[in-house]
Amino acid sequence: MILVTGATGKIGSRLAKHLMESGNRIRVVSRSEEKIEDFKKKGAEPAVGNLLDRDFCLRAFDGCGRAFLLVQGDPASGRHYEEEVQIGKNYAEALRTTDIEHAIFISSLGVEKGTGSALIDSKIQIEADLKDTGIPVTVIRPGNFLENMYNFFETISSAGFFTYPMPGNIKIPHVSVDDIAEIAFKAFRRGPNGWEIIDMPGIEYSFFDIAMEISEKLNRMIKYMRVSDDQFREVFTGFGISDKFCDDYLAMFRYFEEGDFNYDPQSMPSEFDYSPKTLEEFVPELVRAIK
Ligand SMILES: NC(=O)c1ccc[n+]([C@@H]2O[C@H](COP(=O)([O-])OP(=O)(O)OC[C@H]3O[C@@H](n4cnc5c(N)ncnc54)[C@H](OP(=O)(O)O)[C@@H]3O)[C@@H](O)[C@H]2O)c1
Repeated sequence: MILVTGATGKIGSRLAKHLMESGNRIRVVSRSEEKIEDFKKKGAEPAVGNLLDRDFCLRAFDGCGRAFLLVQGDPASGRHYEEEVQIGKNYAEALRTTDIEHAIFISSLGVEKGTGSALIDSKIQIEADLKDTGIPVTVIRPGNFLENMYNFFETISSAGFFTYPMPGNIKIPHVSVDDIAEIAFKAFRRGPNGWEIIDMPGIEYSFFDIAMEISEKLNRMIKYMRVSDDQFREVFTGFGISDKFCDDYLAMFRYFEEGDFNYDPQSMPSEFDYSPKTLEEFVPELVRAIK
Protein backbone atom coordinates (compact mmCIF):
# COMPACT_ATOMS: atom_id res chain seq x y z
CA MET A 1 0.00 0.00 0.00
CA ILE A 2 1.33 3.46 -0.93
CA LEU A 3 0.32 6.48 1.13
CA VAL A 4 -0.25 9.60 -0.98
CA THR A 5 -0.45 12.87 0.97
CA GLY A 6 -1.51 16.01 -0.91
CA ALA A 7 -3.65 13.71 -3.08
CA THR A 8 -6.09 16.50 -3.94
CA GLY A 9 -3.25 18.87 -4.87
CA LYS A 10 -1.30 19.40 -8.06
CA ILE A 11 1.48 16.83 -7.66
CA GLY A 12 -0.27 14.29 -5.45
CA SER A 13 -3.37 13.98 -7.66
CA ARG A 14 -1.23 13.27 -10.73
CA LEU A 15 0.95 10.77 -8.86
CA ALA A 16 -2.09 9.00 -7.37
CA LYS A 17 -3.54 8.61 -10.88
CA HIS A 18 -0.26 7.12 -12.25
CA LEU A 19 0.00 4.73 -9.32
CA MET A 20 -3.59 3.50 -9.64
CA GLU A 21 -3.35 3.13 -13.42
CA SER A 22 -0.31 0.91 -12.97
CA GLY A 23 -2.10 -1.34 -10.50
CA ASN A 24 -0.76 -0.09 -7.15
CA ARG A 25 -2.94 0.02 -4.07
CA ILE A 26 -2.97 3.52 -2.64
CA ARG A 27 -4.30 5.34 0.42
CA VAL A 28 -5.10 8.98 -0.29
CA VAL A 29 -5.07 11.72 2.34
CA SER A 30 -7.30 14.79 2.42
CA ARG A 31 -9.02 16.87 5.07
CA SER A 32 -12.19 16.58 2.98
CA GLU A 33 -14.05 13.34 2.34
CA GLU A 34 -15.80 14.93 -0.63
CA LYS A 35 -12.54 15.89 -2.38
CA ILE A 36 -11.31 12.27 -2.46
CA GLU A 37 -14.64 10.73 -3.42
CA ASP A 38 -13.48 10.14 -7.01
CA PHE A 39 -10.34 8.30 -5.88
CA LYS A 40 -12.48 6.22 -3.54
CA LYS A 41 -14.82 5.24 -6.38
CA LYS A 42 -11.79 4.07 -8.38
CA GLY A 43 -10.64 1.84 -5.52
CA ALA A 44 -8.28 4.01 -3.46
CA GLU A 45 -8.51 3.80 0.31
CA PRO A 46 -9.44 7.16 1.85
CA ALA A 47 -7.72 8.65 4.92
CA VAL A 48 -9.68 11.74 5.93
CA GLY A 49 -8.05 14.00 8.48
CA ASN A 50 -5.56 16.71 9.25
CA LEU A 51 -1.87 15.80 9.10
CA LEU A 52 -1.19 18.32 11.87
CA ASP A 53 -2.92 15.78 14.10
CA ARG A 54 -0.13 13.37 15.12
CA ASP A 55 -2.46 10.46 15.88
CA PHE A 56 -4.27 10.78 12.55
CA CYS A 57 -0.92 10.99 10.77
CA LEU A 58 0.36 7.79 12.41
CA ARG A 59 -2.90 5.98 11.57
CA ALA A 60 -2.65 7.14 7.95
CA PHE A 61 0.82 5.57 7.63
CA ASP A 62 -0.13 2.35 9.39
CA GLY A 63 -0.06 -0.63 7.01
CA CYS A 64 1.73 1.27 4.20
CA GLY A 65 5.14 0.26 2.88
CA ARG A 66 5.77 3.44 0.87
CA ALA A 67 4.77 7.06 1.33
CA PHE A 68 4.63 10.18 -0.83
CA LEU A 69 4.98 13.21 1.44
CA LEU A 70 4.39 16.90 1.03
CA VAL A 71 3.57 19.71 3.41
CA GLN A 72 1.48 22.80 2.80
CA GLY A 73 0.97 25.33 5.60
CA ASP A 74 -2.22 27.39 5.66
CA PRO A 75 -1.55 30.79 4.00
CA ALA A 76 -4.26 32.40 6.14
CA SER A 77 -3.12 31.22 9.56
CA GLY A 78 0.08 33.27 9.99
CA ARG A 79 1.62 30.00 11.27
CA HIS A 80 2.43 28.31 7.94
CA TYR A 81 6.08 27.75 8.93
CA GLU A 82 5.21 26.15 12.29
CA GLU A 83 2.49 24.03 10.63
CA GLU A 84 4.80 22.69 7.92
CA VAL A 85 7.52 21.86 10.45
CA GLN A 86 4.97 20.14 12.72
CA ILE A 87 3.65 18.00 9.85
CA GLY A 88 7.29 17.16 9.01
CA LYS A 89 7.82 16.02 12.62
CA ASN A 90 4.68 13.89 12.42
CA TYR A 91 5.99 12.32 9.19
CA ALA A 92 9.36 11.63 10.84
CA GLU A 93 7.69 9.92 13.79
CA ALA A 94 5.56 7.87 11.39
CA LEU A 95 8.66 6.80 9.42
CA ARG A 96 10.29 5.68 12.67
CA THR A 97 7.32 3.78 14.05
CA THR A 98 5.58 2.22 11.03
CA ASP A 99 6.76 -0.11 8.24
CA ILE A 100 7.72 2.42 5.57
CA GLU A 101 10.61 1.21 3.42
CA HIS A 102 10.75 4.15 1.02
CA ALA A 103 9.40 7.70 1.21
CA ILE A 104 9.45 10.53 -1.30
CA PHE A 105 9.37 14.10 0.01
CA ILE A 106 8.61 17.24 -2.02
CA SER A 107 11.02 19.91 -0.85
CA SER A 108 12.21 22.96 -2.82
CA LEU A 109 15.22 24.34 -4.64
CA GLY A 110 17.05 26.74 -2.34
CA VAL A 111 16.98 24.72 0.85
CA GLU A 112 20.69 23.94 0.56
CA LYS A 113 21.71 27.48 1.56
CA GLY A 114 18.47 28.88 2.98
CA THR A 115 16.55 31.64 1.25
CA GLY A 116 15.16 33.92 3.99
CA SER A 117 11.62 32.81 3.08
CA ALA A 118 9.81 30.43 5.42
CA LEU A 119 7.87 29.06 2.41
CA ILE A 120 11.09 27.38 1.31
CA ASP A 121 13.15 27.28 4.51
CA SER A 122 10.58 25.17 6.41
CA LYS A 123 11.87 22.35 4.21
CA ILE A 124 15.39 22.64 5.69
CA GLN A 125 14.08 21.51 9.08
CA ILE A 126 11.82 18.84 7.55
CA GLU A 127 14.62 17.37 5.45
CA ALA A 128 16.80 17.20 8.59
CA ASP A 129 14.02 15.49 10.59
CA LEU A 130 13.35 12.96 7.82
CA LYS A 131 17.06 12.24 7.34
CA ASP A 132 17.42 11.62 11.06
CA THR A 133 15.00 8.67 10.87
CA GLY A 134 17.47 6.62 8.81
CA ILE A 135 14.63 5.47 6.52
CA PRO A 136 15.42 5.78 2.77
CA VAL A 137 13.92 9.03 1.48
CA THR A 138 14.03 10.41 -2.05
CA VAL A 139 13.89 14.19 -1.71
CA ILE A 140 12.72 16.04 -4.81
CA ARG A 141 13.66 19.73 -4.85
CA PRO A 142 11.62 21.46 -7.57
CA GLY A 143 11.89 24.95 -9.02
CA ASN A 144 8.90 27.27 -9.49
CA PHE A 145 5.91 25.41 -10.95
CA LEU A 146 4.86 26.31 -14.51
CA GLU A 147 1.32 25.45 -13.40
CA ASN A 148 1.32 28.43 -10.99
CA MET A 149 0.32 30.31 -14.16
CA TYR A 150 -3.19 28.84 -13.75
CA ASN A 151 -3.58 31.25 -10.79
CA PHE A 152 -3.74 34.04 -13.40
CA PHE A 153 -6.39 32.36 -15.49
CA GLU A 154 -8.95 35.15 -14.82
CA THR A 155 -6.72 38.20 -15.34
CA ILE A 156 -5.13 36.73 -18.46
CA SER A 157 -8.44 35.86 -20.07
CA SER A 158 -10.37 39.00 -19.04
CA ALA A 159 -7.70 41.73 -18.84
CA GLY A 160 -4.69 40.34 -20.73
CA PHE A 161 -2.02 40.51 -18.04
CA PHE A 162 -0.41 38.73 -15.11
CA THR A 163 1.71 40.09 -12.29
CA TYR A 164 4.34 39.21 -9.70
CA PRO A 165 6.35 41.40 -7.34
CA MET A 166 9.61 41.01 -9.28
CA PRO A 167 11.21 42.22 -12.53
CA GLY A 168 10.02 40.48 -15.68
CA ASN A 169 13.45 39.95 -17.22
CA ILE A 170 15.02 37.70 -14.56
CA LYS A 171 15.12 34.01 -15.47
CA ILE A 172 14.08 31.56 -12.76
CA PRO A 173 13.85 27.75 -12.87
CA HIS A 174 10.38 26.58 -13.97
CA VAL A 175 9.31 22.95 -13.75
CA SER A 176 6.04 21.22 -14.57
CA VAL A 177 4.12 19.36 -11.85
CA ASP A 178 3.46 16.66 -14.50
CA ASP A 179 7.21 16.03 -14.57
CA ILE A 180 7.50 16.03 -10.77
CA ALA A 181 4.70 13.45 -10.45
CA GLU A 182 6.33 11.32 -13.14
CA ILE A 183 9.73 11.38 -11.42
CA ALA A 184 8.10 10.48 -8.10
CA PHE A 185 6.34 7.59 -9.85
CA LYS A 186 9.63 6.40 -11.37
CA ALA A 187 11.39 6.68 -8.00
CA PHE A 188 8.76 4.41 -6.40
CA ARG A 189 9.03 1.96 -9.31
CA ARG A 190 12.84 1.87 -9.00
CA GLY A 191 12.76 1.56 -5.18
CA PRO A 192 14.72 3.07 -2.29
CA ASN A 193 18.20 4.50 -2.76
CA GLY A 194 19.19 5.59 0.75
CA TRP A 195 19.01 9.31 1.48
CA GLU A 196 18.77 10.78 -2.01
CA ILE A 197 18.38 14.37 -3.24
CA ILE A 198 17.05 15.06 -6.74
CA ASP A 199 17.11 18.67 -7.92
CA MET A 200 14.35 19.46 -10.44
CA PRO A 201 14.92 23.01 -11.64
CA GLY A 202 13.25 22.38 -15.00
CA ILE A 203 14.20 25.20 -17.38
CA GLU A 204 14.96 28.85 -16.56
CA TYR A 205 12.40 31.27 -18.00
CA SER A 206 11.59 34.90 -17.19
CA PHE A 207 8.02 36.20 -16.82
CA PHE A 208 8.60 38.18 -20.03
CA ASP A 209 9.40 34.87 -21.78
CA ILE A 210 6.14 33.43 -20.45
CA ALA A 211 4.10 36.51 -21.50
CA MET A 212 5.59 36.35 -25.02
CA GLU A 213 4.83 32.67 -25.40
CA ILE A 214 1.22 33.07 -24.21
CA SER A 215 0.74 36.10 -26.51
CA GLU A 216 1.97 34.09 -29.47
CA LYS A 217 -0.21 31.07 -28.75
CA LEU A 218 -3.31 33.13 -27.86
CA ASN A 219 -2.73 35.45 -30.79
CA ARG A 220 -3.25 38.53 -28.63
CA MET A 221 -0.98 40.65 -26.46
CA ILE A 222 -0.59 39.39 -22.88
CA LYS A 223 1.52 41.62 -20.63
CA TYR A 224 3.63 40.86 -17.62
CA MET A 225 3.48 43.72 -15.11
CA ARG A 226 5.62 44.00 -12.00
CA VAL A 227 3.57 45.04 -8.97
CA SER A 228 5.05 46.82 -5.96
CA ASP A 229 5.32 44.94 -2.68
CA ASP A 230 2.54 47.15 -1.25
CA GLN A 231 0.19 46.46 -4.18
CA PHE A 232 0.89 42.76 -3.88
CA ARG A 233 0.21 42.80 -0.11
CA GLU A 234 -3.04 44.70 -0.56
CA VAL A 235 -4.38 42.15 -3.06
CA PHE A 236 -3.22 39.08 -1.14
CA THR A 237 -4.46 40.22 2.28
CA GLY A 238 -7.77 41.06 0.55
CA PHE A 239 -8.05 37.32 -0.18
CA GLY A 240 -7.53 36.50 3.51
CA ILE A 241 -3.81 35.69 3.22
CA SER A 242 -1.87 36.52 6.41
CA ASP A 243 0.72 39.33 6.60
CA LYS A 244 3.33 36.78 7.62
CA PHE A 245 2.66 34.73 4.48
CA CYS A 246 2.96 37.92 2.38
CA ASP A 247 6.33 38.69 4.04
CA ASP A 248 7.57 35.21 3.16
CA TYR A 249 6.18 35.34 -0.37
CA LEU A 250 7.96 38.66 -0.96
CA ALA A 251 11.17 37.25 0.57
CA MET A 252 10.90 34.33 -1.87
CA PHE A 253 10.78 36.76 -4.79
CA ARG A 254 13.87 38.60 -3.44
CA TYR A 255 15.61 35.22 -3.42
CA PHE A 256 14.45 34.64 -7.03
CA GLU A 257 15.84 38.08 -7.97
CA GLU A 258 19.25 37.21 -6.55
CA GLY A 259 19.29 34.24 -8.91
CA ASP A 260 21.60 32.07 -6.78
CA PHE A 261 19.70 28.82 -7.34
CA ASN A 262 22.54 26.45 -6.68
CA TYR A 263 21.21 23.21 -8.18
CA ASP A 264 22.88 20.09 -9.44
CA PRO A 265 21.52 18.80 -12.78
CA GLN A 266 23.56 15.59 -12.29
CA SER A 267 21.42 14.67 -9.27
CA MET A 268 18.65 13.34 -11.58
CA PRO A 269 19.22 9.56 -12.02
CA SER A 270 19.92 8.91 -15.72
CA GLU A 271 17.63 5.84 -15.71
CA PHE A 272 14.64 8.17 -15.15
CA ASP A 273 15.20 9.42 -18.68
CA TYR A 274 13.99 12.90 -17.74
CA SER A 275 13.54 15.68 -20.24
CA PRO A 276 11.90 18.78 -18.71
CA LYS A 277 8.64 20.10 -20.12
CA THR A 278 9.35 23.29 -22.06
CA LEU A 279 7.36 26.52 -22.10
CA GLU A 280 6.43 25.74 -25.71
CA GLU A 281 4.87 22.47 -24.53
CA PHE A 282 3.19 23.93 -21.44
CA VAL A 283 1.62 27.12 -22.85
CA PRO A 284 -0.75 25.38 -25.33
CA GLU A 285 -2.29 23.52 -22.32
CA LEU A 286 -2.77 26.83 -20.51
CA VAL A 287 -4.18 28.50 -23.59
CA ARG A 288 -6.67 25.66 -24.16
CA ALA A 289 -7.95 26.27 -20.63
CA ILE A 290 -8.15 30.06 -21.17
CA LYS A 291 -9.96 29.90 -24.53
N1 LIG B 1 4.23 26.24 -6.17
C1 LIG B 1 5.52 26.17 -6.45
O1 LIG B 1 6.02 26.81 -7.39
C2 LIG B 1 6.42 25.29 -5.60
C3 LIG B 1 7.77 25.19 -5.92
C4 LIG B 1 8.59 24.35 -5.14
C5 LIG B 1 8.05 23.62 -4.09
N2 LIG B 1 6.71 23.75 -3.81
C6 LIG B 1 6.17 22.98 -2.68
O2 LIG B 1 5.21 22.03 -3.19
C7 LIG B 1 4.27 21.74 -2.15
C8 LIG B 1 2.85 21.92 -2.67
O3 LIG B 1 2.58 20.91 -3.63
P1 LIG B 1 1.26 21.00 -4.55
O4 LIG B 1 1.33 22.31 -5.30
O5 LIG B 1 1.14 19.74 -5.29
O6 LIG B 1 0.13 21.10 -3.45
P2 LIG B 1 -1.23 21.93 -3.58
O7 LIG B 1 -1.79 21.77 -4.95
O8 LIG B 1 -1.00 23.29 -3.02
O9 LIG B 1 -2.17 21.12 -2.58
C9 LIG B 1 -1.89 21.06 -1.21
C10 LIG B 1 -2.29 19.68 -0.72
O10 LIG B 1 -1.93 19.58 0.67
C11 LIG B 1 -3.05 19.06 1.38
N3 LIG B 1 -3.02 19.62 2.75
C12 LIG B 1 -2.78 20.90 3.09
N4 LIG B 1 -2.80 21.03 4.44
C13 LIG B 1 -3.10 19.79 4.92
C14 LIG B 1 -3.27 19.28 6.24
N5 LIG B 1 -3.11 20.07 7.31
N6 LIG B 1 -3.57 17.97 6.39
C15 LIG B 1 -3.73 17.16 5.30
N7 LIG B 1 -3.54 17.58 4.03
C16 LIG B 1 -3.24 18.89 3.85
C17 LIG B 1 -4.27 19.50 0.60
O11 LIG B 1 -5.30 18.56 0.85
P3 LIG B 1 -6.81 18.94 1.27
O12 LIG B 1 -7.00 20.42 1.03
O13 LIG B 1 -7.64 18.09 0.36
O14 LIG B 1 -6.91 18.55 2.70
C18 LIG B 1 -3.77 19.39 -0.83
O15 LIG B 1 -3.93 18.08 -1.33
C19 LIG B 1 4.56 22.74 -0.99
O16 LIG B 1 5.34 22.11 -0.02
C20 LIG B 1 5.35 23.82 -1.70
O17 LIG B 1 6.21 24.53 -0.81
C21 LIG B 1 5.88 24.55 -4.53
